[in-house]
Amino acid sequence: MRVPIVAGNWKMNGSRAVAADLLDEMVENMEGVEAEVVICPPFILIPQVAQRLAVTRIKWGGQDLSAQDPGAYTGDVAADMLKDHGCDYCIVGHSERRTLYGETNQMIAQKFAKAQACGLIPILCIGETLAQRERGETEQVLSQQLDAVITQVGIEGFADAVVAYEPVWAIGTGKTASPELAQEVHHFVRKKLATKDNSVAHKLRIQYGGSVKAGNAEDLFGKPDVDGGLIGGASLQAAEFVAICRAAR
Ligand code: 13P
Repeated sequence: MRVPIVAGNWKMNGSRAVAADLLDEMVENMEGVEAEVVICPPFILIPQVAQRLAVTRIKWGGQDLSAQDPGAYTGDVAADMLKDHGCDYCIVGHSERRTLYGETNQMIAQKFAKAQACGLIPILCIGETLAQRERGETEQVLSQQLDAVITQVGIEGFADAVVAYEPVWAIGTGKTASPELAQEVHHFVRKKLATKDNSVAHKLRIQYGGSVKAGNAEDLFGKPDVDGGLIGGASLQAAEFVAICRAAR
């Protein structure tokens, strides 16, 4: 049995006051949630989130990390620093990092390896753009994104990781993938990894991300290979996010 995992990616949103209210309302309403829940706030809010969530069962993580050891890398945050602030997880390879900041599959694979080396569980984001989907390249693109990580850390690396399938055309657009499409892709990902190691692939949790809302979460999470979600916009609204967490059973 895979325990579903729902992660809130706040992206570059929030203030101390907004975070305080959001966390309070979430924590107060989490009773009965069966999924593992993770909050990924902007770096600067991590100490506040860590303090508020410390005595709850909600975990927290970064949205990105440096592939380097601590040192002269202005503006970056090291995996060790996230660990030092109690992070369990870190998103790597989000499509916004890939497209807006030019992160390549190789750079992302290095971040994945660094996260694991420092005791963080990477949430590896993969996904195709609309143009790639329309050209019929979805499986090829996802394979390349996964293969770069396999080359870096081996298939064993996926024994302690989460994969998030986030079709780029569904992120922040209100265009959710249908549950059937999500299932088809998640099944492809699991099958591909199973050719390397069946047990690792079977245990791997694969989240869906892209315009998940309370209204569509249950249908998406009801599919056999969809093990929860990576939530952007809706994770900034406590009631909506809690309802999504509740839908993951
Ligand atoms: P939205 O839920 O806002 O579409 O964002 C998804 C996402 O990118 C989560 O990482």
